[in-house]
Amino acid sequence: MCGIVGIVGHTPVAPLIVDALKRLEYRGYDSAGVATIEHGALARRRAEGKLVNLEKRLAEEPLGGLIGIGHTRWATHGVPNETNAHPHFADDVAIVHNGIIENFAELRDELSSVGFVFTSQTDTEVVAHLIARELRGGASPQEAAYRSLQRLRGAFALAIMFRGDEDLIVGARNGPPLAVGHGEGEMYLGSDAIALAPFTDSITYLEDGDWVVVRREGMQIFDMDAKPVSRMRQQSVGTSFLVDKGNHRHFMEKEIHEQPEVISHTLANYLDFAAGRVGGFDLPFDFAAIERLAISACGTAYLAGLVGKYWLERYARLPVDIDIASEFRYREMPLPKASAALFISQSGETADTLASLRYCRGEGVPISAIVNVRESTIARESDGVFPTLAGPEIGVASTKAFTCQLSVLAALALKAAKARGVLSAEREQELVRQLSEAPRYAAQALKLSERIETVARELSHVRHVLYLGRDTSYPLALEGALKLKEISYIHAEGYAAGELKHGPIALIDEQMPVIVIAPHDRIFEKTVSNMQEVAARGGRIILITDRQGAEKATVKTLETIVMPDVPEFVAPIVYALPVQMLAYHTAVIMGTDVDQPRNLAKSVTVE
Ligand code: AGP
Repeated sequence: MCGIVGIVGHTPVAPLIVDALKRLEYRGYDSAGVATIEHGALARRRAEGKLVNLEKRLAEEPLGGLIGIGHTRWATHGVPNETNAHPHFADDVAIVHNGIIENFAELRDELSSVGFVFTSQTDTEVVAHLIARELRGGASPQEAAYRSLQRLRGAFALAIMFRGDEDLIVGARNGPPLAVGHGEGEMYLGSDAIALAPFTDSITYLEDGDWVVVRREGMQIFDMDAKPVSRMRQQSVGTSFLVDKGNHRHFMEKEIHEQPEVISHTLANYLDFAAGRVGGFDLPFDFAAIERLAISACGTAYLAGLVGKYWLERYARLPVDIDIASEFRYREMPLPKASAALFISQSGETADTLASLRYCRGEGVPISAIVNVRESTIARESDGVFPTLAGPEIGVASTKAFTCQLSVLAALALKAAKARGVLSAEREQELVRQLSEAPRYAAQALKLSERIETVARELSHVRHVLYLGRDTSYPLALEGALKLKEISYIHAEGYAAGELKHGPIALIDEQMPVIVIAPHDRIFEKTVSNMQEVAARGGRIILITDRQGAEKATVKTLETIVMPDVPEFVAPIVYALPVQMLAYHTAVIMGTDVDQPRNLAKSVTVE
């Protein structure tokens, strides 16, 4: 996901913009650039790769100017090189963009036919030329920007600067987030509150369809009919977290180790540990009145939802339909009136998830969301929000957000069970107590890090890995495979252990490590049978289980990771940690960019 920063200031802005862009690095990117107006002219420096390359360019050729825009680019149109890096220029216009202009090809043809010449492969440059054409026709910068915005189809957050007006940045939002920061005689634009944290915690988020005129003395927001609108000015929580690695090598390692703490914060938000009761959900629907719940999300968040399905159906007897959001949004799923929808998203900005939410909105069902960013678009468009209290998750690979999502879902399952009259007070107390111990179990699991690091050496020289699990360990098998492939680039697949014999067993040989996630639970014996099938074909098993499981797993394993004994209900939360650590240590051994893996973005705000 790209990052945008703009400053209309009273001191040289280029170094400030670069610092702000550094706070957006977690979003993932492959080039960066800054533009300012210096001595009455547009000037820019751009560089391929990481921000350190842009800083080198700026050290070689410093940029002056008290107004500027900056960008970290995650390539969608055009290879990640300097030519395609933002900001893009056309005549007197400089622009940075996050999103995808879907009709850029027809606009490009239209502009080329009247003599405009393009220097990049990007969709963004088209917008710059559209605005330039309006300026050539005599429009003011604001009018030129407004008219051009009317021509765009697709998702965009934009910041636009104009040579000749050193007190104006125009911003616009249709999809990817954009916020205005309020300073003293200085104003800012940024993709989120974390980017603006060095300057201000007074933030105004634009809504879809808004565009804004930002000057040193203040700003005015307009809607798509050019009518002035007002949006809430709020104190951002994003600035209260100091985002750094502490004594860890990577943000991902830090975030893995924060889990006992953030799981307890999250659980405490929904459970009354003393009374042994589930509480605090601002439910926009009555669980007793709905017949089905639709869940939709992407990636790791989807896998949290998959665990949630097991819990909601098992403990609350509530049928759940779950689908990945990129499919859900186009499936046109019929939603009976007596249903509700739940969306899960760490960033709260994932385009597919947001589109699925809007589909459900259109169907008239109540919308709830589990998000980690309270001010996010998904949160703002939901009727009920169940925040995870994981704090900013910087590593692209989601870890603490996942276990906090599971924590919310576990509490929600109890809430639903209680509302539907299928959970006795005694059973509620027992399950709440079990959840209250999840942070302690997680802390015990973290003590296995060194053990897991040695196991990771077994993976660091293979090209394919299989993960197996049953019941609530099946989504963990999928999550373990996702973690491993997204940060170590080793191909990995997760399967329901019972599905092995229906095809994947053909893959088993001495080259294929098989990671089996199997606490000693009600179906452990079934998973042992699957392990015997693997062992009989020379497969090398890495078993993640507990003491009883280790004793009863009557097969030879390559390695066995013995977890603390945990109740079945909380096992998915606790067993997430070893699969995270296994992926992390493997990636470190492989030498990949653990926090910003190649090709990935922290939040995918485009289709
Ligand atoms: C998980 O490790 C990945 N980074 C990715 O699958 C992520 O979970 C997915 O893109 C959803 O993001 P969200 O939770 O911000 O919506």
